[in-house]
Amino acid sequence: MPKILILYYSRTGNTEKMANAVAEGTRANGNVEVDVEYHVDPEDLARYDGIIVGTSTYYHDMPMDMKHLFEEVAVKGVNLKGKTGAAFGSYGWSGEAPKMVLEIMKLKFEMNVTEPALLALNTPDQKSLELCRALGKRVAETLMHTA
Ligand SMILES: Cc1cc2nc3c(=O)[nH]c(=O)nc-3n(C[C@H](O)[C@H](O)[C@H](O)COP(=O)(O)O)c2cc1C
Repeated sequence: MPKILILYYSRTGNTEKMANAVAEGTRANGNVEVDVEYHVDPEDLARYDGIIVGTSTYYHDMPMDMKHLFEEVAVKGVNLKGKTGAAFGSYGWSGEAPKMVLEIMKLKFEMNVTEPALLALNTPDQKSLELCRALGKRVAETLMHTA
């Protein structure tokens, strides 16, 4: 059964709402195992077939914790090549962080990413949450077809 990680960072709960909706979408068709986490160790990433990262944008950047995680993945040589990746996040006006995450996944770790990153302005509305569910569903279906 494919395993999916939804790893997210959220300070005021906006990206967390998106993460929960993405998780709902991944579970829609049953046959996947899904973990939703706020923190993981670099080695943990190797256990998943799909990695979906949620992050809000602060000061035009991604959170320091997330940078450290990717740095450690690179330093420790954790192999993410060929895994399925996607990114999403809430933003206020520029929303760089999810795009940065997706680029790192694609260009540094050679993951197969779903583009573009999914952004929601501030608190996600029903339409944004529906798009989150669709993203989760899409990633789960991709994995079920390639498993
Ligand atoms: C101090 C501060 C800096 C921020 N910087 C940015 C920014 O550079 N670009 C942006 O798009 N939004 C920025 N925002 C807006 C947040 O990304 C937005 O409030 C988002 O919904 C927070 O999501 P979260 O609750 O998941 O952390 C900033 C907000 C604060 C309070």
